[in-house]
Amino acid sequence: MIDRKTSQDLIKLEDKYGAHNYHPLPVVLAKGEGPFMWDVEGKKYFDFLSAYSAVNQGHCHPKIVNAMYEQAQTLTLTSRAFYNDTLGPYEQYVTEYFGYDKILPMNTGAEGDETAIKLCRKWGYEKKGIPDGEVKIIVCENNFHGRTITVISMSTDPDARNGFGPYTPGFITIPYNDLDALGKALEDPNVAGFLVEPIQGEAGVFVPDEGYLAKAYEMCKAKNVLFIADEVQTGIARTGKLLACDHENVRPDILILGKALSGGIYPVSAVLADDDIMLCIKPGEHGSTFGGNPVASKVAVAALEVVKEEKLAERAEYLGNIFREEMQNIDSPMIELVRGKGLLNAIIIKPTNGKEAWDVCLEMAKNGVLAKPTHGHIIRFAPPLVISEEELREAISLIKKSILAFA
Ligand SMILES: Cc1ncc(COP(=O)(O)O)c(C=O)c1O
Repeated sequence: MIDRKTSQDLIKLEDKYGAHNYHPLPVVLAKGEGPFMWDVEGKKYFDFLSAYSAVNQGHCHPKIVNAMYEQAQTLTLTSRAFYNDTLGPYEQYVTEYFGYDKILPMNTGAEGDETAIKLCRKWGYEKKGIPDGEVKIIVCENNFHGRTITVISMSTDPDARNGFGPYTPGFITIPYNDLDALGKALEDPNVAGFLVEPIQGEAGVFVPDEGYLAKAYEMCKAKNVLFIADEVQTGIARTGKLLACDHENVRPDILILGKALSGGIYPVSAVLADDDIMLCIKPGEHGSTFGGNPVASKVAVAALEVVKEEKLAERAEYLGNIFREEMQNIDSPMIELVRGKGLLNAIIIKPTNGKEAWDVCLEMAKNGVLAKPTHGHIIRFAPPLVISEEELREAISLIKKSILAFA
């Protein structure tokens, strides 16, 4: 007899046997295809989270799945103790794709950030001549770069930080989108890098003023400081360009990618930089057993090919404009603000009649659209970029219906 568990059974299992480090919406998903997901009872949903922008290419994209399937039957892991026949071709492909000399492959976004921090520190000592143990990196308030100890040491979010000290030193925190504060922080001669999200995703899709990134880059250059862009969430077509930094023609000195680098199929992250920076790390100084493994390499190449073949950046740009316009037209006191770029958008929800963003998300789920609140009062909307205009318009009408249910 087949053991068919209901959503309630499965939620109970997670609750009993899993750590309580997440607070999911009560929806249990069993299948995904393109912009859609289905729960265990067979109900179909539009996915408007895309696993925090990892599934830009759509769920179970056949080309990426095939690449994974073929490689998984051939060779999965060699470690970097030996060469393999997939890593070099991937490294060549990804560096040409983004225009850098070299890649350092890792697995998760947080590891990408950790890698960038190590690389920046090493460069600070070797190339900038900062005294040993004194390198500092400027970071921004309300950042999100992951969950490791060093990464949360850069965080200003009490939930991410509190109770996990002692923290890694060596960071200067400044307000985001504040060039004066950056200018002051850059006066410190021991600063080696400025780590920034081109749009702060987890903070609630906070888009900085136009010109902020370009000016910040220029200011870093003037002080011989590396401009490090965390494009783990914003990168790979999500905001309507290949990279969010492309909107301001900024080429980061160190670029961190993750999430959609695999189309959400496998944990793949990467740090890209030119030789002058990347070669500061020598054999034995950094690595990861799974980083750059054959499956990851094949999956990443396929995922990046899909982005170009299906013109996902152009689609995100076009569809994003429609989405924001339609959201702005909803006549509801609950909508305080709509903001975003490409298909990375958010609505700030004003609690009305005791109903908050969480209630709106529950209502949307009931109506067939999955999205998640961030920081209590903001809902992020980030569907897979393969969604068609017709599908997007259908989802928009469901979102409208859900918000208007609280009028
Ligand atoms: C900008 C940014 N950096 C890093 C991370 C961490 O990625 P991961 O969860 O794969 O460690 C995230 C995840 O949301 C992110 O949005």
